[in-house]
Amino acid sequence: MTTRPTLLLVTPDAAICDQMRWAFTSDYELFEVSDRTAALLHVRQATPPVVVLDLRLLSTDVSTTEPLAFLQELLRLNPNAKVIVILDNSDQATIIAAFESGAYDVLELPVKLDVLKVVLQRATYLFNLEREKRAIREQAVATEFEGLVGKSEPMQNLYSMIRRVGPTDVPVLITGESGTGKELVARALHRLSARKEAPFIAINCGAIPETLLESELFGYEKGSFTGATQQKKGRIESAQGGTLFLDEIGDIPLNLQVKLLRFLQDHEMHRLGGRENIKVDVRVFAATNVDLQAAINGGRFREDLFYRLSVLTIPIPCLRVRGSDIPLLANMFLMKFASVHKKPLKGFTLQAIELLRAHHWPGNVRELESRVLRAVVMAEGKYITPETLGFPASFSVEPDSPTLRGARDIREKEIVQRALEKADGNVSKAAVELGISRPTLYQLLARYRLRLPKRTDELENQET
Ligand SMILES: Nc1ncnc2c1ncn2[C@@H]1O[C@H](COP(=O)(O)OP(=O)(O)OP(=O)(O)O)[C@@H](O)[C@H]1O
Ligand SMILES: [Mg+2]
Repeated sequence: MTTRPTLLLVTPDAAICDQMRWAFTSDYELFEVSDRTAALLHVRQATPPVVVLDLRLLSTDVSTTEPLAFLQELLRLNPNAKVIVILDNSDQATIIAAFESGAYDVLELPVKLDVLKVVLQRATYLFNLEREKRAIREQAVATEFEGLVGKSEPMQNLYSMIRRVGPTDVPVLITGESGTGKELVARALHRLSARKEAPFIAINCGAIPETLLESELFGYEKGSFTGATQQKKGRIESAQGGTLFLDEIGDIPLNLQVKLLRFLQDHEMHRLGGRENIKVDVRVFAATNVDLQAAINGGRFREDLFYRLSVLTIPIPCLRVRGSDIPLLANMFLMKFASVHKKPLKGFTLQAIELLRAHHWPGNVRELESRVLRAVVMAEGKYITPETLGFPASFSVEPDSPTLRGARDIREKEIVQRALEKADGNVSKAAVELGISRPTLYQLLARYRLRLPKRTDELENQET
């Protein structure tokens, strides 16, 4: 299989054909045609990236008053092609007309091969760049839902769950690794609910010191403790009529868990130091990136509160099981930061995208976001390159496995894991990618104790 770019030469001139064959066959796969019909046929079938078009063809071939109409026709059939036109007079008006008709460059006879060589190199380079950009843009056109970007299967399942759960009034527990978009999902659910005009109040239970968390949640009356110089409403009350989002719910201390449970049962609370029972109508979302079941087993989380909060659970897939979303998200962040930082960036090189796809993303979308921000700040050209991404030197064999066999196992495990992630956890797809059968893949999973990344739809079924 050839990796040389194709080059179509359209000329009635046998001498030019000979010259080009001699000069360019090692760099290009050269196709020669000597008339219009053959040229159009080839362009239709093979859409060559670069065309050298000898316009004398037209004056000998047909008596046309519009010699550039053929160039236009050719570009209509193959709009991305770079067409280099050869003319045999230096009439300025014709040269300008050729450029206006879409010629990439215009050369006059006699053609200087060294000049043509450079023009062809530039044309091929530009064609490839534009093709990469088109590919990236095509991917970027895809799905966005309520501010969530992603078109992978796990994200489609997530969207469909949000669509179904959003408009109901039941409590929702949102689970997922750090940076997967739990808050974004909570806001999306709120926007789809009947409470969308009422407040969405978020509180990060993990970020507020235990001693302050109670007053933050429930508010306080004047004089209820030293420094309480006036009455203050808590977050629960502030969310009246709307949605209360309890982030990092796993960090809430046990004594407060009891109070929260009471509120969830009665829809009533009182401020610290207060006696008045206040009715509050809120829908509660909670989020966690820890395993609450383990916290329950360890006595750190109340089981009854867990059941109250998790009437419905929405698990958010981590970024590494939805590899196909990485280019999409990366481009979205790139455009956002390039405009903020006024950088004339157009996208990523294919190698940069490959590098992004190969990374493990323990910090998920947030990590990707800051990696792209960093690259935008550092970038100098129009495209983000692997170097600009600034990843540490790529993986090497772990030092504690000196044997060849050990090294091979590590690599094999890594490859299997990556294939699974790239296939969004789909075993059949991953097996095809690896060129092995499904049973062999299952054997490898067992051998390396690899767990299939959980897909949203599977988790959903487990919940019910
Ligand atoms: N699918 C997505 N599309 C677009 N942006 C996303 C997506 N998921 C996450 N983000 C962005 O990534 C960042 C982290 O998201 P978010 O704060 O919702 O994550 P989180 O799961 O709450 O993380 P943590 O557990 O660390 O609080 C935010 O800037 C958010 O806008
Ligand atoms: Mg969060």
